[in-house]
Amino acid sequence: MSRLKLGVIGAGVWGKNHVRTAAGLADAELAAVCDTDTKVRDRVARQYPVTHVTADVVDLLGRVDGVIVASPAASHARIALQCVEAGKPCLVEKPFALTVRDAEAVARSAADRKVSVAAGHLLVFHPAVERLRALVQEGELGKIFYLYGLRVNLGQIRADENALWSFGPHDVSMALYLLNDQPIRVAAQGRSYLQPGVEDVVFLTMEFASGILAHVQLSWLDPHKERKLTVVGAKKMVVFDDMEPREKLRIYDKGVDRPPEYGSYGESLAIREGDIFIPKIPNIEPLAAELSHFVRVARDGEVPRASAADGVRVVRVLDAATRSLAAGGTPVTL
Ligand SMILES: NC(=O)c1ccc[n+]([C@@H]2O[C@H](COP(=O)([O-])OP(=O)(O)OC[C@H]3O[C@@H](n4cnc5c(N)ncnc54)[C@H](O)[C@@H]3O)[C@@H](O)[C@H]2O)c1
Repeated sequence: MSRLKLGVIGAGVWGKNHVRTAAGLADAELAAVCDTDTKVRDRVARQYPVTHVTADVVDLLGRVDGVIVASPAASHARIALQCVEAGKPCLVEKPFALTVRDAEAVARSAADRKVSVAAGHLLVFHPAVERLRALVQEGELGKIFYLYGLRVNLGQIRADENALWSFGPHDVSMALYLLNDQPIRVAAQGRSYLQPGVEDVVFLTMEFASGILAHVQLSWLDPHKERKLTVVGAKKMVVFDDMEPREKLRIYDKGVDRPPEYGSYGESLAIREGDIFIPKIPNIEPLAAELSHFVRVARDGEVPRASAADGVRVVRVLDAATRSLAAGGTPVTL
């Protein structure tokens, strides 16, 4: 089978990881890289002498079969539309767009022109998240009560995105993927300490029709680096800790049981402290999995695991959270 010609638009701090990963794929080649910054183009040209390097998106589009868009968030929707209009499947980094209107325009254009568009929801390609999703969806944890995520560290402080739009897409896309559902209500509170109007810390809560509550703490102004998600079910509880080098998932056989013969009296509730199980998770780099999947989407028409519709769903949550932030935390119904 022929190797897919991949192009990367935006080879900055994160885009250079796409460039490196795309260059290492077995069934694709890094055909072109586009960046508006001369220094970035010089670096890419030195590292990848056979790759075409350009400052012009149209030039790149004429040389590739699929595109990874890793430019700054404000340009995602515009560049994604350009890709679709040129008939080139694209993977759009998070956040998919900065407004619901832009996100919907990309999804609509992709559907009209039958061009595949994938949302860069990296964590849905994390092998621990895949395992966790199976646990949730197959009922291993029992009815899901609630979940909470922690995504905090010191830096990278951005001026063009707040912590909600910078970090939130990860946790929101992960929650929607795990639960296979979308929230009905969103509330968010946050504060800008370092730059006016750019929240450094955001506390986001999502409510689902099923009664599940999901909370996420996002910050680039925190002494710890934490990448953690806890899911609490009626039968079992799971902690996904992405800072752990190997034991990323811990399944706690813990819970509170109510023997059926008792009514609703608190005294009858029995705490169950069972074993902790640490499953073996394959050591696969999520970015490599995401790009290999995108090659199959662009070349074979495989359905994107994170589609344009998923991109729209996540942007809807972030948009509602932004409105809630502006209203001091008042819940916003979706
Ligand atoms: N999935 C993840 O885990 C992850 C992690 C970090 C960043 N990101 C996302 O990746 C995107 C890029 O982030 P970054 O940290 O690399 O930013 P960055 O500013 O370091 O890099 C952006 C690059 O795009 C170039 N650029 C700007 N406008 C362009 C245009 N119109 N055409 C071509 N090139 C253009 C810039 O010169 C720069 O080199 C953001 O949307 C960010 O949220 C995703």
